[in-house]
Amino acid sequence: MAKDPSMTGEVYYPAPEVVHGAHIPNYDKVHQEALADLPGFWGKIAAENFEWYKPWKQVLDDSNAPFYKWFVDAKTNIIHNALDRHMRTAIRNKAALIFEGEPGDLRIYTYQRLNREVCKFASVLRAMGVRKGDRVTIYMGRIPELMIAMLACAKVGAIHSVVYGGFSTEALLGRIEDSESKLLITCDGAWLRGEIVKLKEIANAAVDRAGTIENVICVKRTGQPVEMVSGRDHWYHEMMALPIASTKAETEVMDAEDPLFILYTSGTTGKPKAILHTHGGYMVGTATTLKWTFDLKPEDVWWCAADPGWITGHSYIVYAPLINGATSIMYEGAPTFPYPDRWWQIVEKYGVTILYTAPTAIRGLMRFGESWPNRYDLSSLRLLGSVGEPINPEAWKWYHRVIGKEKCPVMDTWWQTETGHFMITPLPSVPLKPGSATRAFPGVEVDVVDEEGHSVGPNEEGFLVIKRPWPGMLRTLYRDPDRYVEAYWSRYAEQGWYLPGDSARRDEDGYIWVIGRIDDVIKVSGYRLGTAEIESALVSHPAVAEAAVIGVPDELRGNHINAYCILRQGFEASEKLKHDLKDHVGHEMGPIAKPTEVFIVNSLPKTRSGKIMRRVLRAQALGQDVGDVSTLEDS
Ligand code: WT7
Repeated sequence: MAKDPSMTGEVYYPAPEVVHGAHIPNYDKVHQEALADLPGFWGKIAAENFEWYKPWKQVLDDSNAPFYKWFVDAKTNIIHNALDRHMRTAIRNKAALIFEGEPGDLRIYTYQRLNREVCKFASVLRAMGVRKGDRVTIYMGRIPELMIAMLACAKVGAIHSVVYGGFSTEALLGRIEDSESKLLITCDGAWLRGEIVKLKEIANAAVDRAGTIENVICVKRTGQPVEMVSGRDHWYHEMMALPIASTKAETEVMDAEDPLFILYTSGTTGKPKAILHTHGGYMVGTATTLKWTFDLKPEDVWWCAADPGWITGHSYIVYAPLINGATSIMYEGAPTFPYPDRWWQIVEKYGVTILYTAPTAIRGLMRFGESWPNRYDLSSLRLLGSVGEPINPEAWKWYHRVIGKEKCPVMDTWWQTETGHFMITPLPSVPLKPGSATRAFPGVEVDVVDEEGHSVGPNEEGFLVIKRPWPGMLRTLYRDPDRYVEAYWSRYAEQGWYLPGDSARRDEDGYIWVIGRIDDVIKVSGYRLGTAEIESALVSHPAVAEAAVIGVPDELRGNHINAYCILRQGFEASEKLKHDLKDHVGHEMGPIAKPTEVFIVNSLPKTRSGKIMRRVLRAQALGQDVGDVSTLEDS
């Protein structure tokens, strides 16, 4: 692409062969057209690329905003587009999923085989009484059965709620109870760095206390003895061998707006938010963003190295690749097991053409130096991707140079659990700036504004807002519509804009630079953690009277957590206690939430109304000026 001398900063231009033949070689034109007629834009895409049992009456209904509806009155099922329709074409013989286990085992599912497994498991679910609208919690490692379970739920119209396999008992229990799931699908264990994460044991502890679960289905993965409760727990492989596991299973006819899944994510206050996504709009949004952003072609081997337990995995391991008829890689374990070349070995072995991962993983692998990737032939790669947090230019350049050999554009995709799919991202034809997610996806209208909603000037920091609805947007928080309105639509209620909760800058060229969260959400290794949740975990320890946690910049993980605790009477500070508190948080929430440092203090900085001023703690930890503390109760 021709250089534009007026552009500022360091710019990487795509090679002509990248632009030529890309699905969208002309970003500006497509974006302008989309904004000029949003329903027309998405309506055309939805009609041409997806099958519907019944067409819509209206593409977008905004009469009851912010409760938007997309593809009003249309009937479909995301599974019809992800699997059923492929059975009629050559795609049925193509590899849908190439799975490599951490111990080195390999499984390949063609579309036909995957569909068969999904049909059988859907029949099992129906035989166990799972019906449209029922909630099913899934708590598993990164194995094909996790995908099969999700797809089977969608097929029968049940709402899946996947809980990340790195979460502990309390987190699992809270999510089971909040969603009132009657079935839990889990596995005996998961392989991680050569060791077994005992998922069934954690699941048992949660299910014993959860009132709603009637049945548990357990996949055998690691094979160690586990406790199975008779009458309640069933082995997956035994169920799948029964006559009830019929390969003839109807796909439930769903309204475009019927719920597909809920996925919990951390918010500013209290308990996690249950983000709700639907069949129609989510399907159109995820599949289209993947196809355009990563220029997905039939011959590609797509590897999204995230966990299916997060939105990245839901959208870009499970649903969007299947809808596009793509071949995906799934790898079970750690990137550094047994050696730090495992990922590069996988790229070479399966001829991966597109790799999508997170800055924290890139930084982690960068530490081991270039010799590990250099031992492999990575020439199959043609595009790279990043997601989860701002990518520091140094990591971007390493990724681009060492992994992409300076020929693979890096797609830095900004989005959220709530948005369902990419919102700010380059397309392969867009010139890149390391560290910037560049510009909005076609049809997405973003801005950076001040408190009053005025666009801020170039390079000034402000709040990121999204000014118009998009098809994959969350529809509500499950059973909590008031919190939905309050959390996302109240700050700019008058204008009707969505507030993602991020701060950002826009440069002279209109490029967006996301800075970070504006609320009490901390990103650790790309995972989103709420200060409130970690603080409640700390306070649930008998020694802790009060606690505050902050995120501190960390070279590897983006942020790590520091905790400040006031002890109850009768307890004394000791190294052992600090250690116990870290373990306690790990036990309550999962290892990812463990504080790196625990400080025992006599008081916490609070406003006169009693709110903890984490800003003050953060400034102190970083040795910065604490700023205006006039509202502090006792400065
Ligand atoms: C938050 C959403 C979207 C899937 C994974 C995270 C941050 C995400 C980027 C990016 C800068 C990013 C934001 C956002 N974030 N991608 N490319 N550049 N920041 O989903 O757990 O819902 O977190 O992650 O702060 O609000 P999530």
